Amino acid sequence: MSRVALVTGGSRGIGAAISTALKNAGYKVAANYAGNDEAASAFTKETGIPTYKWNVADYEASKAGIAKVEADLGPIDVVVANAGITRDAPFHKMSPEQWQQVIDTNLTGVFNTVHPVWPGMRERKFGRVIVISSVNGQKGQFAQVNYAATKAGDIGIVRSLAQEGARAGITANAVCPGYIATEMVMAVPEKVRESIIAQIPAGRLGEPEEIARCVAFLASDDAQFINGSTISANGAQFFS
Ligand code: CAA
Repeated sequence: MSRVALVTGGSRGIGAAISTALKNAGYKVAANYAGNDEAASAFTKETGIPTYKWNVADYEASKAGIAKVEADLGPIDVVVANAGITRDAPFHKMSPEQWQQVIDTNLTGVFNTVHPVWPGMRERKFGRVIVISSVNGQKGQFAQVNYAATKAGDIGIVRSLAQEGARAGITANAVCPGYIATEMVMAVPEKVRESIIAQIPAGRLGEPEEIARCVAFLASDDAQFINGSTISANGAQFFS
């Protein structure tokens, strides 16, 4: 029987590559998305992966969306908390709204995504929780006090969940992508982006598939003893 995987923010960017890689590895995949209906239906048309719309910042909506996925595909064995946003601004210009939106989506969104599937994973004695953090959660980043706080928070989440889930056959790990060629990074002003690429020893942005392959490995049976870890995929930009 195929395992079931849920990928939040799974119809675009890194999430789309993760959904596709898991499908290619034999999982039944559900891709959640928040707002871009057009991109979601194009993604489903192209890949055959069903998409489900809800806002990960909303606990009740997450619970209801996850219940629908489980009714359609079966109990979720692998959850990839990938959905994330940026609201970059130097700290002296960052508004409380910019702070709160990023916390609600990137950090509370992880709680809202994992909490509803956790009891089932405990009962079935198997689960994979994979959270997409960031190099900027490891090293901090100019204009990203909000985002870096959430991505550092992801690491605390998986290290704690790993200890709680280990005896129930559940692993929880984070992947920390560096700068990957997605819309999010392309939205950074070109001059700033060029200066960031100059700091990456690999001399290039990463590809979404390079992150997806890390996730597929962490989801596999081979990764059972990897628990509470952080995989960095950043072209040697930063070591932690
Ligand atoms: N390091 C040092 N200085 C920087 C900087 C950086 N990374 N980015 C901007 N600055 C400088 C600017 O050059 C500017 O300097 P001057 O005043 O001397 O000209 C100053 O900081 C800020 O200027 P402004 O007050 O005009 O800034 P702004 O209000 O217009 O905001 C910005 C601009 C939002 C900070 C913009 O520069 C930006 O988007 N920077 C990139 C931030 C970034 O790296 N975000 C990562 C997005 S990708 C991602 O998050 C994915 C992931 O996980 C890796």
